[in-house]
Amino acid sequence: MSIKPAIIAGSGLLSMPNLVIDEALLVNTQWGQPSGPVYKGRLQGVDVLFMARHGDAHTIPPHKVNYRANIGALKKEGATHVLAYNAVGGIGADCETGKFVVADQIIDYTWGREHTYYDGTEEDLEHIEFTSPYNEALRQVLISAAASAGVTVVNQGVYGATQGPRLESGAEIKRMERDGCDIVGMTGMPEVALAREKTLPYASLSLVVNAAAGKTSGPIAMADIEQILAERIPVVCDILSRACVLVSKQMHVN
Ligand code: HPA
Repeated sequence: MSIKPAIIAGSGLLSMPNLVIDEALLVNTQWGQPSGPVYKGRLQGVDVLFMARHGDAHTIPPHKVNYRANIGALKKEGATHVLAYNAVGGIGADCETGKFVVADQIIDYTWGREHTYYDGTEEDLEHIEFTSPYNEALRQVLISAAASAGVTVVNQGVYGATQGPRLESGAEIKRMERDGCDIVGMTGMPEVALAREKTLPYASLSLVVNAAAGKTSGPIAMADIEQILAERIPVVCDILSRACVLVSKQMHVN
């Protein structure tokens, strides 16, 4: 089987400058329409798939993303691994704005999302193993890719997945901190669990775009988030490109 990493791109990343697109696939799935086309192409000569999680015009809010269709479409088009990029708020002391985190754990605070393929319509029912939600080998690929780009990352941490689209209250962040969360984002779940259900190794590169609610004086300013995104998205692209090359070299069995 040929290796084909798929990138699911979050806020601020709608395309990659070095992605050579061969085809834009409009994929229909039994779970409905994905967020947008699945772009089939090449990054540094590696066959990849690319999808913008919030759609090509960034119009789909986190709670309305059809996560099942997105993962289903990528699987259907031959994805062998999923590299996700997420913008997040920083909670932990080492998760300052502008830093990258490769989470190794997740806590789900979302509700009402279609969060499983085993919803009673499938013949079989499987309770997936989820002790370690992220694929460790793929996490190490992201960490190595960042190192090769000269970027230090926080190489473990707990991602708290909230419902959105509003940001959290100060008390909610305090509670998440007590729970052990290091970063907070709105799209980590159910994506990582659905990938596990479809047996797709999945890891995520999180970019801290703001200090979480109550972690700095004053309100969170969208303009500041935009500025961080503008500065750091080229680095996200660099790390993801390097990760795709590493996946193609290292992961012939998995
Ligand atoms: N909270 C939740 N999601 C986010 C944040 C945040 O502070 N920043 C970016 N995505």
